[in-house]
Amino acid sequence: KVVAVIMVGGPTKGTRFRPLSLNIPKPLFPLAGQPMVNHPILACKRILNLAQIYLIGFYEEREFALFVSSISNELRVPVRYLREDRPHGSAGGLYNFRDLIMEDNPSHIFLLNCDVCCSFPLPQMLEAHKRYGGMGTILVIKVSPESANQFGELVADPVTNELLHYTEKPETFVSDRINCGVYVFTPDIFTAIQDVSTHRKDRATLRRVSSFEALQPPDRSLPTDFVRLDQDILSPLAGKRQFYVYETMDFWEQIKTPGMSLKCSGLYLSQFRFTAPHLLASGDGTKKAAISGDVYIHPSAKVHPTAKIGPNVSISANARIGAGVRLVNCIILDDVEIKENAVVIHAIVGWKSSIGRWSRVQASGDHNAKLGVTILGESVMVEDEVVIINSIVLPNKTLNVSVQGEIIL
Ligand code: GDD
Repeated sequence: KVVAVIMVGGPTKGTRFRPLSLNIPKPLFPLAGQPMVNHPILACKRILNLAQIYLIGFYEEREFALFVSSISNELRVPVRYLREDRPHGSAGGLYNFRDLIMEDNPSHIFLLNCDVCCSFPLPQMLEAHKRYGGMGTILVIKVSPESANQFGELVADPVTNELLHYTEKPETFVSDRINCGVYVFTPDIFTAIQDVSTHRKDRATLRRVSSFEALQPPDRSLPTDFVRLDQDILSPLAGKRQFYVYETMDFWEQIKTPGMSLKCSGLYLSQFRFTAPHLLASGDGTKKAAISGDVYIHPSAKVHPTAKIGPNVSISANARIGAGVRLVNCIILDDVEIKENAVVIHAIVGWKSSIGRWSRVQASGDHNAKLGVTILGESVMVEDEVVIINSIVLPNKTLNVSVQGEIIL
């Protein structure tokens, strides 16, 4: 049997995702019309003999309860949310629930970061892992040398694929191969995590009993049960024939900011062409609006037949899109109203917001720039004939004058 664990973090993480994470836990933010965490969950469905999917995080239980019960029913795979009382780090969180995870006696455990967007080639990873042996296999990708330092950089043996060297977010360049945050492990991973915390405990005891305590540097070590997969496990065990890499040639992105969520929504929409074409809107459907490129429209949304929509547009439940509206590269969240002849380009429009007649909400579309995508928080009212460019607007604001390059608090 195989078990999958998805790390969802908690409210103190994901702060770069504001203002969108003010309303909803980041893992539930919709990408291509599906909660972010649905995408890795759907990928897990393709694993043979999958017994359970666990989401581990430190959000309140109730924030995930509804989601977990509906997705379990929908997919007919048991999904359970396990809440940590506080962050234990990516490996510590896993270790915390080892008894539950081992209940099904799995031969392998997948571990996935929830905030990555990729094709999750999980069956292929498992197959490669069985060939390599060792304790785990890491999904890696080649990125540009300039962007590599935002991630874990690693060096692997080109022939055996063994992980030889691992450095988390190094200051000087190590490698353009990076850790994608997707792993498959044998249960030996629990022993490795246990060893890290035992070692920490021993060191702490040594410090306490040392008669030279006053002369020792202050104890800045981490709590013994806080264990990071990258720094505490992968770095020290690299080159010891424990870890191997599997390189993906598909797309991969990390989702830390709202701008990146827009890009990733587009990547998932284009993946739907192959995996779930029925979710994509087509111009000859009942909506009859002019559709170009990949577009998702929730069945409850009302779209006027004279609207022009796409590419990369995702429209959530109960949104109303008026006559003559133009939408390009945007996410329109639940209960939004976009009135006649308004234009939305490179933007995310928050829940219950409204955009007035002939107004424009737009941006340059540079996903990496701070204001490259315009974001409207929940319940923002843009009045008629107002132009909002490259801006972030916090919830509950009314805009009756045009703004450019501003963060409106
Ligand atoms: N449950 C739980 N508890 N989840 C956690 C905790 C924790 O204490 N800490 C982090 N996470 C979750 C986050 O929500 C995220 O999904 C994932 O674990 C990794 O988060 P971080 O540990 O903050 O690392 P990162 O995202 O900056 O970088 C990691 O992922 C990159 C790929 O996206 C590293 O492993 C990098 O090497 C890697 O390139």
